[in-house]
Amino acid sequence: MKAAVIERYGPPEVVQIKDVPTPVPADDEVLVESYAVTVNSGDARVRALRVPRGVSPMMRLRLGFTGPRQPVMGFEVAGRVEAVGSAVTTFQPGDRVVASRGFKFGCHAEHVAVAEDGLIARIPDSLSYEDAVALCFGGTTSLIFFGMGKLAEGETLLVNGASGAVGTMAVQIARHLGAEVTGVCSGANAELVKGLGADHVVDYTAEDFTRSGRRYDVIMDNHGNAPYSRVKGSLAPGGRFLQVIADLPQMIAATWQKPVIGGSPKVTADLFRTLMSLGESGELKAVIDTVLPFSQIVEAHRRVDTGHKVGSVVLTFDHDD
Ligand SMILES: NC(=O)c1ccc[n+]([C@@H]2O[C@H](COP(=O)([O-])OP(=O)(O)OC[C@H]3O[C@@H](n4cnc5c(N)ncnc54)[C@H](OP(=O)(O)O)[C@@H]3O)[C@@H](O)[C@H]2O)c1
Repeated sequence: MKAAVIERYGPPEVVQIKDVPTPVPADDEVLVESYAVTVNSGDARVRALRVPRGVSPMMRLRLGFTGPRQPVMGFEVAGRVEAVGSAVTTFQPGDRVVASRGFKFGCHAEHVAVAEDGLIARIPDSLSYEDAVALCFGGTTSLIFFGMGKLAEGETLLVNGASGAVGTMAVQIARHLGAEVTGVCSGANAELVKGLGADHVVDYTAEDFTRSGRRYDVIMDNHGNAPYSRVKGSLAPGGRFLQVIADLPQMIAATWQKPVIGGSPKVTADLFRTLMSLGESGELKAVIDTVLPFSQIVEAHRRVDTGHKVGSVVLTFDHDD
């Protein structure tokens, strides 16, 4: 099968499509034939080893010193079950599913093997593969952080970086939970963010939200330029700061700063099921920046590297159906 392989960290051009062995599902695994995958900000970060200050040595230890030990990136895939191991009972060939191997990556490939009890969920008939996969990265991140931050109905939330993959899902999920949402993005994306349900939008090129005097129950930073030290004066009493991105000093400081909630929390299949159900009911809409064929994965990485994609960048695979 074809897979996108990264042998050393570097610019988008280090990604090469190569022939690699097709995985053979173990007894408890499901083999998914890929129809759509995302290239998300995490894939691009690992490819370039572009990580926040102080994190690089830790990441090299964990991922590989000169290139990723797991050379095929890709966090999530939407596709069709092609085969199942002998012990699998809940999925069968032909099922439409979204799936992930978590931090084992490996989804930028024509086939992906996933444990039956791992990160895998059925896609409702009304959702396309492209839409289903585009809900996952930002959707799981938002659900996890809102859960940890106990975002409640009627609370005010500010989302810094509201038009990216995480931000577009965060705005919609927060509205679904009944929060009053302020989105921060460039003016060009203001209408889109309002259309997703934001009650207010701040154009960061024209206004600094930390100087407005407004206070929020919850602030979520998806860009990294609104750390706790900058936004603490904008938190209401009892407020919580969702530190989606942080450098090493900020991670360490978070261990004693009570309002700060951070980390790289664990994704579960239940979260995928919730997202598919919100997608089916129309409460959550996929936001897709670009759809490209898998053969153009280098171009997809270039788009992600701009830091200004709107929602998700999706790659599709050729199929007769
Ligand atoms: N902790 C975790 O578990 C976890 C999970 C997922 C993602 N992340 C991290 O979360 C971050 C966001 O991911 P993503 O996929 O959503 O990224 P993305 O799609 O590239 O989105 C970037 C967002 O940042 C906004 N932005 C750019 N410059 C800005 C500025 N100066 N001030 C405020 N906003 C600005 C962009 O808006 P405009 O285009 O309008 O400028 C856009 O909304 C990444 O760093 C990723 O690594 C962490």
